[in-house]
Amino acid sequence: MTVHFIGAGPGAPDLLTLRGRDRIAGSPVCLYAGSLIPTAMLDHCPPGARIVNTAPLSLDQIIAEIQTAHDAGQDVARLHSGDLSIWSAMGEQLRRLRDLDIPFTITPGVPAFAAAAAALGVELTLPELVQSVVLTRTPGRASTMPVAETLTAFAATGATLAIHLSVHNLAQVVADLTPSYGPECPVAIVWRASWPDQQIERATLATIAQAIEGKPDRTALILVGKALAAENIVESSLYANGYDRRFRPQSADSKFAGDLA
Ligand SMILES: C[S@@+](CC[C@H](N)C(=O)[O-])C[C@H]1O[C@@H](n2cnc3c(N)ncnc32)[C@H](O)[C@@H]1O
Repeated sequence: MTVHFIGAGPGAPDLLTLRGRDRIAGSPVCLYAGSLIPTAMLDHCPPGARIVNTAPLSLDQIIAEIQTAHDAGQDVARLHSGDLSIWSAMGEQLRRLRDLDIPFTITPGVPAFAAAAAALGVELTLPELVQSVVLTRTPGRASTMPVAETLTAFAATGATLAIHLSVHNLAQVVADLTPSYGPECPVAIVWRASWPDQQIERATLATIAQAIEGKPDRTALILVGKALAAENIVESSLYANGYDRRFRPQSADSKFAGDLA
């Protein structure tokens, strides 16, 4: 018996990996985080599967479900939204499973920030302009932030920021970022990226608060940084004519000349 943690992607049912789909199909028990997982994902469950929405359950209750399946020798598909490496609460479940000696696998998923970037039609890293993306959030009722991880500190780097779990806290986000990024810095907010009711708003730090008046205050990503509206993009060296590289040696004298043989 194995617990298969599966990143179920940002919302569109076809943004699930083939491995994730197959692991759902092979598991007679499915535990899913109901608030952000589309019910269409559950169509991959085998007939007669026990399907449990874990949104109203405590960690103890979730582990009890897993223990019951374990005792019955039944694999469990454990679905979380997006990818499992960020804000999935997988870490605390893994610790319990390790303590109980219950085996698990992890199948990554498409994270919401990638779906939001796709919806906006942007690359978040651009040559010479920005080469880092910070995935972060602001403090919430259930989670404080480590003292060094402030938006002000991240803003000092000039990186593209992908700010999760924070659209309800936009005024503070704008106040923290404006001193470093400036009021004209581009901002985009994407609600429910990849869902049929996806919404997008583009503005600047100075105008975003007004632009989103009346919009939902959850399930949105705030993206901030120059890459969102860059015009005179520098092209990467990688594909430049004449750039000598392993997969495109430029002459017989190239140090890569023998590599393709
Ligand atoms: C608990 S976190 C889950 C993140 C997820 N593990 C991931 O990889 O994207 C939930 C937050 O992710 C963001 N989020 C998740 N799905 C989203 C979507 N489809 N569109 C926009 N933001 C989304 C929102 O900021 C939301 O408040």
